[in-house]
Amino acid sequence: MIVLGIESSCDETAAAIVNDKKEILGECVLTQIEHKTYGGVVPEIAARSHLEHIEDILEETFKKANIAPSEIDAIAAAAGPGLIGGVVVGVMAAKSLALALNKPFIAINHLEGHALAARLTSNVQYPYLLLLVSGGHCQILIVKDVGDFERLGTTIDDAAGEAFDKVAKMLGLGYPGGPMIEKMSEIGNENRFVLPRPLQHSGDCNLSFSGLKTAVRKIIESYSPDNNIEHAILNKQDIADICASFQKAATDCLVHKIQKAIAIFRHKYPNANDIVVSGGVAANTYLRNRLKQIAETEGLKFSAPPIRFCTDNGVMIAWAGVERALKGISDPLDFKPRPRWPLDTDAPKAAGAGGVKA
Ligand code: KG4
Ligand code: ZN
Repeated sequence: MIVLGIESSCDETAAAIVNDKKEILGECVLTQIEHKTYGGVVPEIAARSHLEHIEDILEETFKKANIAPSEIDAIAAAAGPGLIGGVVVGVMAAKSLALALNKPFIAINHLEGHALAARLTSNVQYPYLLLLVSGGHCQILIVKDVGDFERLGTTIDDAAGEAFDKVAKMLGLGYPGGPMIEKMSEIGNENRFVLPRPLQHSGDCNLSFSGLKTAVRKIIESYSPDNNIEHAILNKQDIADICASFQKAATDCLVHKIQKAIAIFRHKYPNANDIVVSGGVAANTYLRNRLKQIAETEGLKFSAPPIRFCTDNGVMIAWAGVERALKGISDPLDFKPRPRWPLDTDAPKAAGAGGVKA
């Protein structure tokens, strides 16, 4: 089973060809740098850039894999959630190829791509506990099977990556903020600034980053003569210390709620072993190490995709396509992309009208 996967839901135009032996035959990722000057992704610029580059990315991916389009068994594309202009570009490319090659089309929930990525790169068994932390999402889920998710908790305001990006923006560190905050934190004192850990005592697995972000803003304002963060006078060490204190606080919040979730997961699935972190923020080594420690203490096996497969990529979409195709799941060519697409409402369709013959 060989599947082509296309990702275009945010600011990466990406494609990959992956088979059911877990081999990545070819992959290509183009990260749009146009957004850097705006401090965030501009949807219309993103959509235009996907449109401009999608054909070259696909050609390059086939070239790297050294296979002909006719050798592909199915074509998968991230069909939501995400910026709809970009999603439509990837989905249209996938549908066109599916039609021209007479192969099945598979609509992938972008979050399922992140959720299943660790099964490609590590030996992760269903059911597993998943912390999904990206720029747009922050959820704790039990992944029971392809398309079968139980959400234990979610952010009630900002996503984790969004909080990293907003704090980085306040500190003038540019976009995306996560990698810069992590880098600055290496030379920072994580205990210098006292920051809140929102929802610590809520008793559930929900998260909140808005208050944490506001607390950082207040600290930055206190370094400004007129309470305007644009005029704050911060030296490199001050910035590093804010970054490290924020990174620790955000990680503490995630770790605390994961511990709660582990207790629920254990109760429901006493024989399950795996805990996974994925999504862009999972590229953060400090967070990975803290989660690894917790997993070891709890006697669970910790896995995370390699850092390059944490942020958006085509490999995770192709792999989710492989998992779906192996179950005979595909989608009709009139599938409508879904800008909003919660994971725990996605019931997989049995092989039928458009079913893949594996
Ligand atoms: O999964 P992703 O590439 O796109 C979405 O689906 O949202 O995640 C992007 C997010 C951004 O918010 C970025 O700042 C964050 O992941 N990120 C990180 C790191 N690398 C990327 N956050 C913290 N530490 C990192 N090293
Ligand atoms: Zn993503």
